[in-house]
Amino acid sequence: MTQAFRIRSLSPDEASASVPALASVLLDCVQGGASVSFMADMTLEEAEAFWREETTADDGRAILAAEDDEGVFGVVQVIPVSTPNQPHRVDVSKLLVHRRGRRRGAAEALMAATEDAARAMGRWLMVLDTVTGSPADYLYEKRGWRRAGIIPDYALYPDGALCDATFFYKALAR
Ligand SMILES: CC(C)(COP(=O)(O)OP(=O)(O)OC[C@H]1O[C@@H](n2cnc3c(N)ncnc32)[C@H](O)[C@@H]1OP(=O)(O)O)[C@@H](O)C(=O)NCCC(=O)NCCS
Repeated sequence: MTQAFRIRSLSPDEASASVPALASVLLDCVQGGASVSFMADMTLEEAEAFWREETTADDGRAILAAEDDEGVFGVVQVIPVSTPNQPHRVDVSKLLVHRRGRRRGAAEALMAATEDAARAMGRWLMVLDTVTGSPADYLYEKRGWRRAGIIPDYALYPDGALCDATFFYKALAR
């Protein structure tokens, strides 16, 4: 039977307490071959250091987590752009679901929650990028994100091979 999960926005304290779980999600995604900033030799300590920085950023971001009875297994961030000329925009960053919890709708639920979080910030233009042809690429299209374009050879997979990136945007109803 598929285990139930819930989505919630982590308070700063909850986010700090979740650093080990978030690091384990990030490490699992990298070990699974996802191109999410890090290379295959990333350690758990580096993953924890990354999340310590993210969870203390103090920039008004929302850190949304998917959790089940075993704990946090998915995450995504909604980061309000700080430049004065983009008061309406957010970046959506690091949608990650641990392999133990995939294909049960967690990423879709997290992405639905990003829209609520952006609205709660008073923002309506959302931007992200992902590896062209990846599972996330299909997910964003399914959720109504628009393709702005593809940049060839944008980043590396953890094993060092180059990958293209597709940039997406979504304008929420105002
Ligand atoms: C991409 C990712 C977040 C999807 O997480 P998930 O919880 O398994 O996704 P969901 O169960 O919510 O799937 C929702 C939709 O995404 C798409 N999708 C998810 N996994 C897919 C796969 N392996 N192949 C093709 N489409 C896929 C499908 O459209 C799916 O809808 P469907 O189940 O009705 O077909 C997860 O695979 C992951 O963490 N990958 C590694 C990290 C990464 O690449 N993150 C994206 C950074 S931008």
